[in-house]
Amino acid sequence: MKKVGIIGVGEYLPEKILTNADLEKIVDTSDEWITTRTGIKERHVAAKGQAASDLALPASIQALKDAKINPEDLDLIVVATITGDMPFPSVAAILQDKLGAKKAACFDLSAACAGFVYGISVAQQFLACGTYKNALVVGVEVLTSVTDWQDRNTCVLFGDGAGAVVLTEVKEGGIISTYLGCDGSKVGILNLPAGGSRLPASAETVKNRQHFLKMQGNELFKIAVNTMTKAAEVVLAQAKMTFADIDLIIPHQANARIIMAVAKKLGIPEERVYLNIERCGNMSSASTVTALCEAVREGKVKRGDVILLDAFGAGLVWGACIIKW
Ligand code: UT7
Repeated sequence: MKKVGIIGVGEYLPEKILTNADLEKIVDTSDEWITTRTGIKERHVAAKGQAASDLALPASIQALKDAKINPEDLDLIVVATITGDMPFPSVAAILQDKLGAKKAACFDLSAACAGFVYGISVAQQFLACGTYKNALVVGVEVLTSVTDWQDRNTCVLFGDGAGAVVLTEVKEGGIISTYLGCDGSKVGILNLPAGGSRLPASAETVKNRQHFLKMQGNELFKIAVNTMTKAAEVVLAQAKMTFADIDLIIPHQANARIIMAVAKKLGIPEERVYLNIERCGNMSSASTVTALCEAVREGKVKRGDVILLDAFGAGLVWGACIIKW
């Protein structure tokens, strides 16, 4: 099997910023509640008409430039998203056309907040066994398009953004270990009820606000902490490593309190945890990848560093990955 690593990163966050103060004018909430309960101060919001592929494009161009490869050299595009441009075709197909990546096979992957970790794990398999040479993996969401702006339990949490990475064969380092999991028995605690084959769009589903994301946050909190802790332990054990070997943990950004509880359980000091939740909120599939891109750009991930990605979300699904940069 070939060694596979990330050779280029890119990200895009929409221009418009929605602050906690802005939300105070929309629902019965306060900056104090949002900050202390979640760690979020502001989030980026896509402009009207700006769809997932529009956010994915600049992130992908930047990643390809960083990797110094042309779109025509891509063999595979995997887009992790739960808020694609439309139910079908895939964002990956739309993105392929926008990039001019003519020879790439393309598909979307639905694993919510663990989507990016699932995505790089899937792409790694194609590259490791030599089926393909170059892959683009994108995590993108326009979660504000499925946010109920009348529901203070959820509308303060989410944001929009995109991140992209280019994967190829590397001589040193690269992806050391990945671990993916799912517990499908808890679909009801985080989902978007209507618009699929179970409950097709109708006047009634619109009236009942069933085209918006629903979440029982409180129930998820404890599961998130325990699952992310377990996922990190499993992926480290697989790699025969300990937490002392990890230079930086880049977790899914659902809640700063969840992240810090995981870090505490794992014995990882705060300064070795990367957070962008304060500026971005929860961007589901886009959270882990944009955090990774920012950490690289800010020089917090250097050549030879070992990083741990750790994500959890609707499904319930989870994924963890260790990469030597
Ligand atoms: O992305 C991956 C999956 N997602 C997660 O893992 C999210 C996990 N859950 C969480 O992050 C947290 O549970 C939330 C941030 C969603 C909520 O925080 P919490 O500390 O669990 O609050 P809660 O749901 O227990 O609500 C506490 C109180 C309630 O009032 P009462 O019943 O105690 O009077 C809520 O009505 O806070 C109230 N509340 C709010 N107050 C002001 C809920 N939302 C708000 C709000 N502003 N926006």
